[in-house]
Amino acid sequence: MKLYNGGIILAGLVIFLGLVTMPVWANLGKPAYVPQKLTMPAAPNDKACIEDKEIMRNTHMQILDSWRDAVVRDGKRVYINRHGKQFAMSLQNTCMKCHNNKEEFCDKCHLEAAVTPYCWDCHIAPKGKKQ
Ligand code: HEC
Ligand code: HEC
Ligand code: HEC
Repeated sequence: MKLYNGGIILAGLVIFLGLVTMPVWANLGKPAYVPQKLTMPAAPNDKACIEDKEIMRNTHMQILDSWRDAVVRDGKRVYINRHGKQFAMSLQNTCMKCHNNKEEFCDKCHLEAAVTPYCWDCHIAPKGKKQ
């Protein structure tokens, strides 16, 4: 084998290792409450959350409240977001379909924020995990 081939192989190896370990070092130095990428949904059709990340981070509680009121009081079950995309207003069937690891996603952040939503007394968390 010629020497430059070795160089190319080595360079390839370095890039490969960099990519493989990226999820680890990309998370270094971030605040503890930011959920890890691996808890993010396998959402084959459309990965985007129902609203932008900042909106979700700050107002998901209000959104859930308004969903509950819409469903329980008004019998409305379809939410249309700012881009005109429709979602079923359901904690279990919408939020938790994407955020299917409640412990790693919802719970970790809530622990940090010292909130314990009581929703799971009645609503079923993914994989039957209850808080
Ligand atoms: C179609 C899949 C999908 C659905 C449905 C969905 N989410 Fe998300 N959600 C995501 C993705 C992907 C992100 C990360 C967005 C990003 O990083 O830009 C996210 C981000 C968030 C965040 C912010 C996380 C952070 O890092 O600050 C919260 C909170 C959240 N979602 C809660 C909810 C709740 C509550 C619902 C239901 C009302 C919901 N999501 C529905 C996919 C989804
Ligand atoms: C990025 C951090 C973060 C993530 C991820 C997150 N939450 Fe929250 N959540 C909070 C914070 C902070 C509060 C408290 C807000 C307040 O008191 O104003 C909260 C409050 C709530 C409340 C209201 C609880 C109460 O007692 O008032 C509900 C319901 C809720 N979250 C549901 C969810 C669900 C369901 C998920 C996962 C799909 C989720 N949250 C993911 C940060 C997060
Ligand atoms: C005492 C039991 C109970 C608790 C606790 C509870 N819910 Fe519900 N919730 C229900 C019932 C029953 C419905 C009506 C289901 C239907 O009509 O599809 C409902 C409906 C909803 C809906 C709309 C329909 C759906 O399938 O999601 C949302 C959103 C919702 N609840 C969010 C919440 C959130 C967020 C919390 C916690 C802050 C919570 N609920 C706590 C019983 C409960």
